[in-house]
Amino acid sequence: MTQTLSDGLLIDRMARTVDGVRMFIGGEWQSAESGATFDTVDPSTGRVIASVPRAGSIDVDRAVKAAADAAVAWQFTDALTRAALLRQLGALVVENVDELAWLEALDSGHYIDKARDLVMALPLWLDYHAGLANIVGGRTIPVPGDKLSFTLLEPLGVTAHIVPWNYPLLVMARSIAPALALGNTVVVKPAEQTPLTALYFARLVEEAGFPTGVFNVVTGFGEEAGAPLAAHPDVAGITFTGSTETGRIVAKLGADHIAQVNLELGGKSPVIVFPDAKIDDAVEATIQGFCSHAGQVCIAGSRLFLHDAIRDEFLGKLTQRLESVRIGDSFESRTQFGPLVSSEQLDRVLSYIDIGKSEATLYYGGGRPSGVADGGYFVEPTVFIDVAPTARIAREEIFGPVLSVLGWSDVDDLVRQANDSQFGLFAAIWTQDLRDALSTARRLQVGGVVINDWFGELPMAPHGGHKQSGTGREEGLETVQGYTQVKHVCINLSDSLVDTSDWAAAPL
Ligand code: NAI
Ligand code: MG
Repeated sequence: MTQTLSDGLLIDRMARTVDGVRMFIGGEWQSAESGATFDTVDPSTGRVIASVPRAGSIDVDRAVKAAADAAVAWQFTDALTRAALLRQLGALVVENVDELAWLEALDSGHYIDKARDLVMALPLWLDYHAGLANIVGGRTIPVPGDKLSFTLLEPLGVTAHIVPWNYPLLVMARSIAPALALGNTVVVKPAEQTPLTALYFARLVEEAGFPTGVFNVVTGFGEEAGAPLAAHPDVAGITFTGSTETGRIVAKLGADHIAQVNLELGGKSPVIVFPDAKIDDAVEATIQGFCSHAGQVCIAGSRLFLHDAIRDEFLGKLTQRLESVRIGDSFESRTQFGPLVSSEQLDRVLSYIDIGKSEATLYYGGGRPSGVADGGYFVEPTVFIDVAPTARIAREEIFGPVLSVLGWSDVDDLVRQANDSQFGLFAAIWTQDLRDALSTARRLQVGGVVINDWFGELPMAPHGGHKQSGTGREEGLETVQGYTQVKHVCINLSDSLVDTSDWAAAPL
């Protein structure tokens, strides 16, 4: 089945190809100024899906200029109107769920049912943040004298959104939604591995009726398009989600022009199981934690701290359950576990598995699965046991379905080990003892803790990291700080300047 859309985009579902892909800059569909393109690939087969404009600094500059030109009018657009546009966008996402889910599955390797769920979640994100447009505001300040002092919460101006490939639509939506709701204009740079859904989303932005230049997408590589975007002097705010290594580069580029930078970076999240845990539930959640999207999740629970008393029982049940995980092509309806995003990611994960074999005991998996396309980037769920806290597989973010199991018996020692990490994104605790759960939760150096559950991200709860897992928070009321700046206004309410003598006394 082929489908040609109004702007010339051609989707061929049988061939699994997309043609006519262009960027969205200043309300126009454009190729790169240089004419250059790059290929994006289907991770289930390794085959090329589409050729995509390869933006350079000229294209980035155009997009930032378009966003800057639109900024003042958008800032002073009624907040109700901004919110209504975001909600209209949510409705269009639902109308286009088939196309968006198909493109997300094809480009990123999310299996199709999951891709659909992810698309259907977007309206909740758009709606929550649309609501912020009318909720957040400044405060009044009780200053001395006959004066009224208050703050205005104002947008930053142009915000840049550099997005990774693991959850292309959701990660983009969770930052552009508050940015737009709070009156910023945006330039998105999707990951080079997964550019297609941001562009399809831009069609919906256009259809919803957002003013020209408020939302722009440039597609290209990190160094060629991401870096000039982060470095652009007219970009006032940068939201970067991705590796800690690249986050450090982006933060430095932002520092050169004093941009506000929000970073959501890597993790090595501990999953802590106490001896009284409900083992079956903890096993199920552990699998979610390291196998969801084949482990390509920032909060992935990749360090499992098993209490010695339940270690054997837990590992037995884990293996049994892993046997039933259905690995396959993104478009097979039975698939629960798809491919890694790229051949680079496959090489990286396989090299970590090799490292693991030299550092610890391979307990489960460790290879390429059978029954999938040869060209696909599949790797089995993999479990290492007897992992020392100093092992690389216990310390570094692998971003694949690799679980490192560590033992514990003393809770103080456990907390010390769990905190012995450069990362501090997330943690899970399994126990039926409230005191153990809460006192451990308080002692962990992380931005989020879940107790007796695994985590589905929500727009109303703050998400972000301690330590090298990031700065700033996405979602929740905390996100407001990432997309606004404060202006203090003070008005003299008396008829004349009162007490001018005070000026001389004031400690200027
Ligand atoms: P990356 O962090 O380099 O890429 C994320 C985004 O940043 C992409 O849009 C990319 O084009 C852009 N980017 C890259 N270099 C840039 C630069 N110099 N200036 C501005 N933007 C730049 O991640 P990559 O290389 O795709 O994956 C490498 C590793 O990063 C993975 O193996 C994984 O461990 C980790 N990662 C972690 C993520 C997380 O959410 N924690 C998400 C994606 C990757
Ligand atoms: Mg791709």
